[in-house]
Amino acid sequence: MSTTTPPAASTALSERFRSVRQRTLALCQSLTPEDMMVQSTAEASPAKWHLAHTSWFFESFVLREFQRGYKLFNPDFAWLFNSYYQTFASFPEKRLRSSFSRPGVEEVLRFRTHVDEAVEALLDGNPPAEALERIELGVNHEEQHQELILTDILSAFYVNPLRPVYRTEEAEPRVSKRDTEPSGPLRFLRFEGGMHEAGHAGDSFCFDNELPRHRVWLAPYALAERLVMEDGGYRRPDLWLSDGWNAVQDHGWSAPLYWSSESGEWSIFTLRGAQPLSRRKHAPVSHLSYYEADAYARWAGYRLPTELEWEAAAEGRLIAGNLLDSGRLMPVPASEMADIDAPGPSSGSSGERVALLPENPAGSFRHLWQLFGDCWQWTASAYLGYPGFRPLPGSLGEYNGKFMSGQMVLRGGSCITPRAHIRASYRNFFTPDTRWQFSGIRLASS
Ligand SMILES: [Fe+2]
Repeated sequence: MSTTTPPAASTALSERFRSVRQRTLALCQSLTPEDMMVQSTAEASPAKWHLAHTSWFFESFVLREFQRGYKLFNPDFAWLFNSYYQTFASFPEKRLRSSFSRPGVEEVLRFRTHVDEAVEALLDGNPPAEALERIELGVNHEEQHQELILTDILSAFYVNPLRPVYRTEEAEPRVSKRDTEPSGPLRFLRFEGGMHEAGHAGDSFCFDNELPRHRVWLAPYALAERLVMEDGGYRRPDLWLSDGWNAVQDHGWSAPLYWSSESGEWSIFTLRGAQPLSRRKHAPVSHLSYYEADAYARWAGYRLPTELEWEAAAEGRLIAGNLLDSGRLMPVPASEMADIDAPGPSSGSSGERVALLPENPAGSFRHLWQLFGDCWQWTASAYLGYPGFRPLPGSLGEYNGKFMSGQMVLRGGSCITPRAHIRASYRNFFTPDTRWQFSGIRLASS
């Protein structure tokens, strides 16, 4: 518990802490204080709340415990910016977050600076290993909120009648198009199945819900080479789960979220403004609920993959694709990112780079497109603890474990997930009616 940490580990974490904290601010740079107050749906939170809550996390779970003499920035913030940690403090109802006109943005930014300085001083002072682990958890927590800042501002701007544009400038770097556009009938990559190990391996960071690593048996299966680009099947009740059909009726769903039609012309609202559907037809469909993903798969004559089929296919592959770092901020056709499969961390447990090799003995293609990035991929798996799952001790045990009821697992990250945040064993989870995330479909078959 009170073991100390090698200075190199502390320095690396210091750099990662600084860059993640700065990126959060950069994501909010184009927002006005009024933008930062909007909470457009029950699921979303105002950007200002995200800025404060991510600082609250470090103050509550790192500084209070490990920084001797730490002075709380404001004792009321301990409960005001608590999200859901029942055993830590009380908290206001989530729907009230847009009523927090005070503290103002300036004060929230001062809170961030106060926390930044204290965490950096702690990191400079040879902290115990447990403090380092908590800071790393806080950094990963903040990356999750970076994604939420963007999904929440997309929702906020969509309900604004002016439909403001979050980002206007071109994404960098520009990439050249290859003639590798997956087209024609959807092709599938076959996997032999057999005995596999699932869950995170090695000493690098992971969330508690990725553990323990355990053995699973997989029957032979196949995964579609890319995500689904089309849409259909909304008017056939025979395709839908009972709860899903009820959701279609209750919400009047007839197209994915952010699609709208004017004079027969469909467009999709994105962080780069409204885009004509005609220009997005090779991009994967996004902002679908699990119910829609499941019904689409049935309509197309396939199914969704289980999360462990997905993980077995992803383990050892290079983490590359249209992630937040590409600057695209929207799903793009698979070919557009072909040149961005650049050097970077692999998703394998060994940390070694793994070449992309043909896995299909028939050998007509060699790549699972859009495995990481573009859209989170709904799986057919309910979000449960792995055999032997143990939540983190104390209040942090509430981070993941208490949500293991009524939610489905998504894999792979999206166009707004930081690349350093995602890996093959990463488990995202949402209720099956969730649409405001960048969530799409990869088909599977047995
Ligand atoms: Fe949080």
